[in-house]
Amino acid sequence: MRSTWALLAGLTAVYGLPTIETYGNKFYDSNGKQFFIKGMSYQLRPNDPLIDSEQCARDVKLMEELGVNTIRVYHVDPKANHDGCMDVFDKAGIYVTLDMDTFPTFIKPYNSYWNTTQFEMYSAVMDTFIKYDNLMALYVGNEIIAKSDQSLSAPFIKAAVRDMKAYRDRKGYRKVPVGYTAADIAELRPMLQDYLTCGGNSSETVDFFGLNAYEWCTPNTYEASGYPVLQEMAEQFPVPIFFSETGCITGPEPRKWEDMDAIFSQPMVDDWSGAMVYEWIFEQNQYGIVSYGEPAELGVETGDVHDGFTRKGTPTPRQPDFDNLKTRWASITLSGTPKSEYDPSAVSTRACPTSTKGGWEVDGNVRLPALDETYAGSFTPSPTATSEPTAEEDEEDGAPARGALGVSALLIVVSSMVAMVWM
Ligand SMILES: *[C@@H]1O[C@H](CO)[C@@H](O)[C@H](O)[C@H]1NC(C)=O
Ligand SMILES: *[C@@H]1O[C@H](CO)[C@@H](O)[C@H](O)[C@H]1NC(C)=O
Repeated sequence: MRSTWALLAGLTAVYGLPTIETYGNKFYDSNGKQFFIKGMSYQLRPNDPLIDSEQCARDVKLMEELGVNTIRVYHVDPKANHDGCMDVFDKAGIYVTLDMDTFPTFIKPYNSYWNTTQFEMYSAVMDTFIKYDNLMALYVGNEIIAKSDQSLSAPFIKAAVRDMKAYRDRKGYRKVPVGYTAADIAELRPMLQDYLTCGGNSSETVDFFGLNAYEWCTPNTYEASGYPVLQEMAEQFPVPIFFSETGCITGPEPRKWEDMDAIFSQPMVDDWSGAMVYEWIFEQNQYGIVSYGEPAELGVETGDVHDGFTRKGTPTPRQPDFDNLKTRWASITLSGTPKSEYDPSAVSTRACPTSTKGGWEVDGNVRLPALDETYAGSFTPSPTATSEPTAEEDEEDGAPARGALGVSALLIVVSSMVAMVWM
């Protein structure tokens, strides 16, 4: 078995999917073709799902049928062997994106710190997965800022980005994109996405920005959803931006995924790189589109049953959501802009946002925390702060007001459901 996997791993390195990098505000594969995400959150259990290659093989068939080209995994164990699953996904044309943090290592929203223990754990994930050509992107965190009063942790997110990109480059690894996936908090838009990309030093800014957005619930239209506001804030964004979670549910109404048509057509398709649907497995939070059997009794924790749901076996699509998404995705053909025809100088660097009382609390381009630094009550204005770049003044300031409360409230519900399931 060992030699078979070694051989497969060897083949992956040679014949794997073309690797993905960012260029301007788009993702490109190594053949110069623009890449758009048709993605799926895939976390069958609290811990690493990428160590069960038989299960990955069962799931991948259905993912292929659905039209998935990327998965998102929130927790992995860098010490485990992932050759089997990564190969199964690679052969199916599916890229993998991963959080480098896990339960004990994520950056805290209050009294934030970024330290050597976290850095070493993040590095171990990068070391383990960089050999797979279908590793598409790495996240330094997910929804660290989940409430409107948590923006002071943003410089720590940026410090983690700085150190992980420096580590990647120091090790001579390919430039796997390193970024962050944000909760959709109306009060902090667009400040967070601007802050993570501002300052004019690409060694310190995210390679991409992911937004977990649950604004579009069936039935809806582009105009009635909050998407026009998101679109305005993403226009000519300096790095790729995409929906790193989407798929609002409201009671029993099946999802029709109309938002996919909006995301993959003009004007959004010019600025967004696709979307990840939340999520694969049907569990307590009821977002999943695949089941592994009837719900079990809550509190029963045996083998493959956790938190009331079986997490292994033959996946059965939940209808009509599964077929609705399959049909929707199948109807969307994307060509994109070939790299040779794309001018990345058209993107606009944003100004570092200034602080506002009760809103965004980081004032301008502050000095980033060093490794092993803990938040000490304030930030020092950066001595090397570059002057504000060419950003147009934010015409967005008043815009997020529409539906702001509803969105935040929903988000907190979603976040706490995720927290309840996984913590
Ligand atoms: C990093 O912080 C965590 C949590 O406080 C702590 O357990 C760990 O020892 C720290 N690591 C270092 C190197 O200080
Ligand atoms: C850019 O950031 C890196 C990492 O913080 C730093 O080492 C470098 O000096 C910065 N470059 C400039 C021109 O400030």
